[in-house]
Amino acid sequence: MFGHKFKDEHFSFGKNVVQVNNGSFGSVPTTVLQKYKEAIDLDHEFSDRYLLTELPGVIKNAAAQVAEFVNSDANNIVFTLNATTSVNTVLRSYPFAKGDKIAMFDIAYGACANTIRFLSNRQGIEVVTIELKLPLEDDEIVEKFEATLKEEKPKLALFDVIVSMPGVRLPFERLIEVCRKYNVLSLVDGAHAIGIIPLDLKKWRPDFFLSNLHKWLYVPKGCSFLYVDPKHHRNIHTFPVSHSYLDDEEVLSEELERTRLVDRFAFYGTFSYAGIDCIPAALEFRKTVCGGEEKINGYCFELAKDAANHIAKQWNTSVLENAKGTISTTMSNVEVPINDQVLQFLKNDKKNIVKLRKTIDPIMLKEYSTLLPSIFHNGKLWVRFSAQVYNELSDYEYASDTFLKLLGENEARILSL
Ligand SMILES: Cc1ncc(COP(=O)(O)O)c(C=O)c1O
Repeated sequence: MFGHKFKDEHFSFGKNVVQVNNGSFGSVPTTVLQKYKEAIDLDHEFSDRYLLTELPGVIKNAAAQVAEFVNSDANNIVFTLNATTSVNTVLRSYPFAKGDKIAMFDIAYGACANTIRFLSNRQGIEVVTIELKLPLEDDEIVEKFEATLKEEKPKLALFDVIVSMPGVRLPFERLIEVCRKYNVLSLVDGAHAIGIIPLDLKKWRPDFFLSNLHKWLYVPKGCSFLYVDPKHHRNIHTFPVSHSYLDDEEVLSEELERTRLVDRFAFYGTFSYAGIDCIPAALEFRKTVCGGEEKINGYCFELAKDAANHIAKQWNTSVLENAKGTISTTMSNVEVPINDQVLQFLKNDKKNIVKLRKTIDPIMLKEYSTLLPSIFHNGKLWVRFSAQVYNELSDYEYASDTFLKLLGENEARILSL
């Protein structure tokens, strides 16, 4: 049912595009894209009417549907533009005191790690970094995390559901538990989560959880949800702070207190809310056209795994996976075969992977209409595969052949940079 035929019927990629990198910016089915354009048109026909009369209902309906999808009360769910904004919303409004510690893994997403560094520079927050050399077993990650929380007693810990690069699932459910055990706030970066992993926020009870709907849920860009546990509604303010700001201490009636968070986030500046308007259409597409979450993820998990095994065999290298096979999801990672000179170059300086990518990525994109993101981790060069319902094995063959060919052709140039 899925694969290239499905791609031609339901997606509108440019001619010859071989998209194997859904993890970066997502993909939107043609019908959802149509809805997006309609929402933008409706807004611009008469913005006053759309934003003032339509939008409140649009947000309420979208939040109710997302809340059901992630098993939460809708009063705990608000929307922001993207995962980075959701992380900033929490970190830059929570009342940290000078000297409070924030723990994170060294493989945390760069933009989010920088937000913590910013707090460190501006507010005297102390950063506790936990190093992970992958692959590791889930137990090893949990043990390292727990040891750090026990010793350092941070105020908050930031961790991913699935790390960006390499694309690796963390045992985030267990990490939330560890946070609760040590009375540490959990900020779970699920930028890659909704649309891949069935979410159950009532069961897991993190303090904060966010996910991009524009990555894996087929929603157009500019759409992340942020879950805030009710005990923190008072402390979390919109980013940017806006008309709806209420002081932490301001007391409301019991009824208004229940909607305190969502009322603050209903409108906090003029931007396009068209992505949020597409959430019902994206969920409907997943249910009716794709046949539901299990079908989508059954296909994508298997394809990501098959693709990684297939290319690793061709390349005579390895897949980034642990003994229990818990690392790969709809994203998998394969070791790239490199010679000693390239290996030494990448080992010499952390920044050299950027030089490699700046050389190869534009050629892949402009001349070959594909992209395999690469990273140097734990002494090896990896490429990340994303699997979506429109992909087939041949896509990964094309992208991997292209990557290796360009690496060979540009090696001398890269080494001289
Ligand atoms: C783990 C993680 N966090 C945060 C982000 C940032 O997402 P956005 O660019 O939508 O803010 C990403 C993006 O890839 C990510 O992988």
